[in-house]
Amino acid sequence: MNPNEYITGLHHLTVSVGSAQEDIDFVTQVMGMRMIKQTVLFDGSASVYHLYYANADAEVGSVWTTFPFKKAGLTGKKGSGQIEVSGFSVHPDAIPFWKEHLDKHKVKNSGILERFGQKMIHFEDPSGVGIGVFGDANDNRNAWQTDEISKENGIKGIHSAVLSVREVEMMDKYLTDILGFYKVGQEGQYHRYHIKDGGARKVIELHHQPDLPQGSWTFGVGIPHHIAFATGNDEESAKLKAYIEGTGYTDVTEIKDRNYFHSVYTRTPGGQLFEFATSDIGFAVDEPEDLLGHELLLPPFFENRREELTSSLEPITVPHYLQDK
Ligand SMILES: [Fe+2]
Repeated sequence: MNPNEYITGLHHLTVSVGSAQEDIDFVTQVMGMRMIKQTVLFDGSASVYHLYYANADAEVGSVWTTFPFKKAGLTGKKGSGQIEVSGFSVHPDAIPFWKEHLDKHKVKNSGILERFGQKMIHFEDPSGVGIGVFGDANDNRNAWQTDEISKENGIKGIHSAVLSVREVEMMDKYLTDILGFYKVGQEGQYHRYHIKDGGARKVIELHHQPDLPQGSWTFGVGIPHHIAFATGNDEESAKLKAYIEGTGYTDVTEIKDRNYFHSVYTRTPGGQLFEFATSDIGFAVDEPEDLLGHELLLPPFFENRREELTSSLEPITVPHYLQDK
């Protein structure tokens, strides 16, 4: 089977961060993304928010999700085997704006870099999670607009993910031989791969860092958790699961109900956790499209824990456009 038949690009990127309020303020004000969902982590027994952000259309492939782990007290170690940079696309003309904007907000950043002919800036969120804006003139998706960030300058959606690896060979084989992605180039320590024909949502980079010690795979403040690729529906995810298991990577989970999509997860030879998430449910399944993100929502299978969960979560203030809804 050709797995590329079922993988349409990246679906969402997920990281563990510090406090929920600090995260909401940073992502909605500094990154300028639209807050589209307040729910909780469905795995384990700790009460932890799961916050979702996206572009103006809240579409698959634009979604950034965070688990604010500060209150639960879990920390981790940054290192290789992790997602080093979660990449978002902006118009190339907006790159100088982003440099100025990040400096204004005192966000530590790389300055303007160029790789594979593309201008970009790498920076960190307050918990230390690596983020990047990548200039992409062909991405026509609609950015959310804020007081400080115009629609022209805003984040259009996911561009790519940069994965730190101590060895390239086995992860290269996994991306190309198993998942059917295409290697399109190497520049220094960076190896670039395309899903199908590449472009926004369809770029993965390996960053070869042979001397960087292994980082943790756990949840923990400042630790990216996984990247999710989009499939169409359960049937396609089931085929992909069977296919990956058949290649010998037998640690693929059952299909899990994530309320807004259904997911399977698998650990890659580079150490990063990959998810395959369906695109057929969406975020308006439990609140109207124009009210996305305005209140804490729990899936039906968590309603029996509502009291326990809500009493132990950090109180938060949502962005002004979601207040009094
Ligand atoms: Fe996910």
